[in-house]
Amino acid sequence: MTAELIIVGGGRMGTALLEGIIASGKLGAAQILVVEPDPERRAMLRLAHDELQLVDSPELGHVGPSTSALIAVKPEVAEAATRLAGGLGVRRILSVVAGISAARLEGTLPGPLPVVRAMPNTPALVGAGVTVISGGSHVTKDDLDWAEDLLRAVGTVVRLPEKHLDAVTGLSGSGPAYVFMMAEALIEAGVTAGLPREIARVLATETILGAGRLLVESDESPEELRAMVTSPGGTTAAALRSLEARSVRSAYIEAVLTAAERSRSLGR
Ligand SMILES: NC(=O)c1ccc[n+]([C@@H]2O[C@H](COP(=O)([O-])OP(=O)(O)OC[C@H]3O[C@@H](n4cnc5c(N)ncnc54)[C@H](OP(=O)(O)O)[C@@H]3O)[C@@H](O)[C@H]2O)c1
Repeated sequence: MTAELIIVGGGRMGTALLEGIIASGKLGAAQILVVEPDPERRAMLRLAHDELQLVDSPELGHVGPSTSALIAVKPEVAEAATRLAGGLGVRRILSVVAGISAARLEGTLPGPLPVVRAMPNTPALVGAGVTVISGGSHVTKDDLDWAEDLLRAVGTVVRLPEKHLDAVTGLSGSGPAYVFMMAEALIEAGVTAGLPREIARVLATETILGAGRLLVESDESPEELRAMVTSPGGTTAAALRSLEARSVRSAYIEAVLTAAERSRSLGR
């Protein structure tokens, strides 16, 4: 049976996208084929969606005129997976693979197929990701509209030229890890200040969630929101002075630049 979408790689990101796409009603499970070599993973996906098409290797019969492929495998096998999908005759490729350029994927294809590159992040696992998409040489506005519509199933989508994807990787791709490290530190801080660990965990994580929602939902800038909780001579002002004295702001800038540079060198 032909599929509307072939997801190559049913790992964490492939599954998150599959769940989001089905939950949003963009496609039904029966319209999606997941290519996944691991039998245990296939069995788990089968349990979750009995109508989903699942194979360890796709065939010509799975591809119709409107079939697109979403590549969600590790970078080492991304070119082989794209070559396979292109050889089967899919109409376009959407890749979420980090660090592999659209040009490299285009080089594996039999003709001028549209390749859209996307950089999602792990909050996509709970439908709260932010994904940047960029088009390769043969992409039309229709292809980008299609990719944006699909990826909106797991969060916010932003369009940018591909030259920005290393910076995007350093900011939003790796960004969740910076926040998780902040959560670890705040929990340790709470315990050090005398709070039970479980309470410190709840207070730290809910503070990060609440501050994040306020940032997104309020019209105020981060600076204005920070000023609102910083009374002159108060506790927050004292804490912020301590953070500034330890160059936390420039540590974040260095972290993002270093991650972007690492992404650039991995993609070479
Ligand atoms: N996780 C993230 O936050 C994130 C964020 C941005 C981008 N990405 C990108 O998303 C991609 C997938 O990451 P992930 O975290 O989902 O990795 P993952 O959990 O390891 O998933 C990759 C899946 O692809 C399967 N696979 C391997 N070779 C295959 C092939 N030739 N054909 C079909 N399936 C194959 C793997 O099966 P086996 O385990 O049996 O090999 C595995 O189930 C990566 O390129 C990564 O750069 C991930």
